Order: sequence, then structure tokens, then C-alpha cells
Amino acid sequence: MKPAVLAAIDAAAPLPYYLPAGDECELFEHAFRHQLPLLLKGPTGCGKTRFVAHMAARLGRPLHTVSCHDDLTAADLTGRYLIKGGDTVWVDGPLTRAVREGAICYLDEVIEARKDVTVVLHPLTDDRRVLPLDRTGELLEAPPGFMLVVSYNPGYQNVLKALKPSTRQRFLAVEFDFPEPELETRVVAAESGLPEARVAALVRLAGALRALKGQDLEEGVSTRLLIYCATLLRSGIKPDRAIRTALIEPLTDDPDVRDALLRVAQVTLG
Ligand SMILES: Nc1ncnc2c1ncn2[C@@H]1O[C@H](COP(=O)(O)OP(=O)(O)O)[C@@H](O)[C@H]1O
Ligand SMILES: [Mg+2]
Repeated sequence: MKPAVLAAIDAAAPLPYYLPAGDECELFEHAFRHQLPLLLKGPTGCGKTRFVAHMAARLGRPLHTVSCHDDLTAADLTGRYLIKGGDTVWVDGPLTRAVREGAICYLDEVIEARKDVTVVLHPLTDDRRVLPLDRTGELLEAPPGFMLVVSYNPGYQNVLKALKPSTRQRFLAVEFDFPEPELETRVVAAESGLPEARVAALVRLAGALRALKGQDLEEGVSTRLLIYCATLLRSGIKPDRAIRTALIEPLTDDPDVRDALLRVAQVTLG
């Protein structure tokens, strides 16, 4: 337990900044209250992780975030026996810790994880809300404060890496996208400190670059990259250089595509 003083300081800390695009905060609260798991779909860098951090703080729950990758196994989430000073001790993984504490567990890019991971999630996502730990013989019941949130980027989806219907039909799903221009301008200005008037031009450029998605580009410029660009501008980097470094080069390695994007930038920004 935290000393009361520290807990009070935590409670007074400002929430991680998140500007809602719609009713996603209410939806999250209702899902939490009714102990329903939540799936967030959307492109990279559009605010999913920030949203979960904001909601966890707002609901006063600790947050355990796991970035999933193709080596991630069920044991990485649940825990394993480790040798410590000659003894074998059980060490909880982040999912187990979240269940024990009644915390929010956020699995980012869940689609990347190995297949056996979904097997662990299933009993937590139906009305049993349990986590069986085969290795220790425990059957943990998730307390009301526990919530499972997963995210994935449908844009990267391929046949091999689709979320199986038997898994996805266990979650409420909320779609995310890059914020509307006016909203995105406020977000980028708030995060970078660049005045909104200057940010607005960048957001317009982002719109033009995003329109090319699917033709030459796999992914459009993210809100995250816009914030990087605005941060460079605010720090005194010349616009041409900031735009190229933050908004063009990260998107492509193809010189022809890059030149086309640079032309779009010139035309859009004049
Ligand atoms: N609606 C929003 N409110 C506040 N910040 C946002 C919002 N959308 C995006 N951001 C900013 O964009 C950055 C990238 O978002 P992030 O949550 O990491 O994306 P994702 O998890 O979807 O890849 C965040 O660090 C934050 O600065
Ligand atoms: Mg993320």
C-alpha cells in the first residue's frame, strides 16, 4: 500500500492530456463499470495509448501496458518460475499482476502476439473473468477493478494476422482515427507548444498526405509525427527540414514517392 500522503499527491496529479473525439470516454467508463473488455481499432499514432492512460487515471486504476510482438508468449503475460539465489520463485507477469491488483491491463498491438496468448485471454473475457495459472495451480478471479483493453491496427492486417472471430467477438470495439482537423490542431498545439495558427498549416498538409494512403503509402502521417514536426519547428528548425524529417522520410524509403510527397508539401504550404 502507498502511504496516504503519496496517494493524495497521485490523486491531485493532472490526468494525462486527452482530447476526446466523441463519446469514447463515456463508452470506456460504461465498459469498465460493467466489466466488459474493450478493443480499440485504429492506425498507429492516433491517440489510443494516450486514451487508455487518460482513462486509467480518470478511473483511478493502475495501468499495466504490454507492447505485443511476435515473440510474446502466454508466459510473458502470466508469469514464470525464475531461479533467484538458488530458489525457484514464481514471478507474476503483467496480466497476472493486473488481475491481482484490480488494474487495467492494456495489450497494445495484440495481433502481433503468439496464438497461445489469446487462449489465456478467453477465460478473462467471458463472464467467468478468471485467469487460470496452470503452473502454480491457481485460479485467479478478476476483481471489479480489473479491465482488459487491447488495441490493434486494422491497416496492418493480413490473412495470417487477423484477430480470430472467436477472440474479437469477446470485446466491445471502438474505432479510432486521426482527429478532425480542428481537434488535431488543438492536440498538436497543446503537445508541442507551437501556436495553433502555425499548426493549422501542418494539419492541412497531413490531410493532403493522408489522402495518398493506399496508392503509394501504406500508412498516413500520424498525429504523433505531426507533434514531432511541430516540436522541431518550435525549437527553431527550418520548415523544409522539419517537414522532411518528421512527415516525409518516416513514411517512405522510395525516392520517387518521397519526391512526390515533397511536392505535395510545397503545393499545400505554398
Ligand atoms: N485525442 C488526443 N488527445 C491528446 N493527445 C493526443 C490525442 N491523439 C493523439 N495524441 C497525441 O499523439 C501521440 C501519439 O498517440 P498514441 O496514443 O501514442 O497513439 P497510438 O497508441 O494510437 O499509436 C500521443 O503521445 C499524444 O501526444
Ligand atoms: Mg500505442
